[in-house]
Amino acid sequence: MFCLEQVDARDSPFDRSSSAAMNTLIVVICTLVAVATASTECGPLQRLKVKQQWSVGFGTANHRIDIGTALWRSIFHQAPQAIDQLFKRVEGHDLYSGKFQAHSMRVLGGLNMVISVMDDDTLLHSILEHLRDQHKDRAIPRNYFKVFKAALMKVMPYSIGRCFDKEAWSSCFDVITDTLGDY
Ligand code: HEM
Repeated sequence: MFCLEQVDARDSPFDRSSSAAMNTLIVVICTLVAVATASTECGPLQRLKVKQQWSVGFGTANHRIDIGTALWRSIFHQAPQAIDQLFKRVEGHDLYSGKFQAHSMRVLGGLNMVISVMDDDTLLHSILEHLRDQHKDRAIPRNYFKVFKAALMKVMPYSIGRCFDKEAWSSCFDVITDTLGDY
């Protein structure tokens, strides 16, 4: 159901011709699955895919810090005015300051919570509504959620690699930002 990495024939216990056949089979399966699940909707398959790819792409420890830094770098590149507007308190001028890194980890922690329950609609909406309430008094312009999405869509492929399912991420992230920006 999910994209698989290709097997390197040199590492395989099988002879080269059967490994090559196996590689071809895997590519064919990946292609068929990609065609079968391609959709502009955030349906059950897309939700599971995003959840599975996030668990790979989010990684652990320092990798998470790097993802956060790359994400906010892209957000502030697109909307530099947001730094003074919203992130002075957490030292948004210095992405590497302890305060900003802690903020970045809080946001990724929130995102992790949301994506982990992507396949449970009731829980998902209750978490999203709580997050929306945490944001609604901060006067965040709605288009900033689009900026956040654009940044995530740039950063995640680096972390996930060629399996990154752009359509699934795009449609499922709209579900997240539609609720967060609904105030
Ligand atoms: C999926 C997207 C997002 C998630 C999951 C998320 C999550 C979070 C979380 C968990 C917090 C900490 C809440 C608290 O402890 O009170 C937070 C704070 C905050 N978020 Fe978001 N956020 C998202 C998008 C955004 C966007 C797009 C903006 C604006 C560009 C934004 C601006 C802020 C601000 C200004 C704070 C408070 C910073 C402070 O402590 O002074 N967030 N966010």
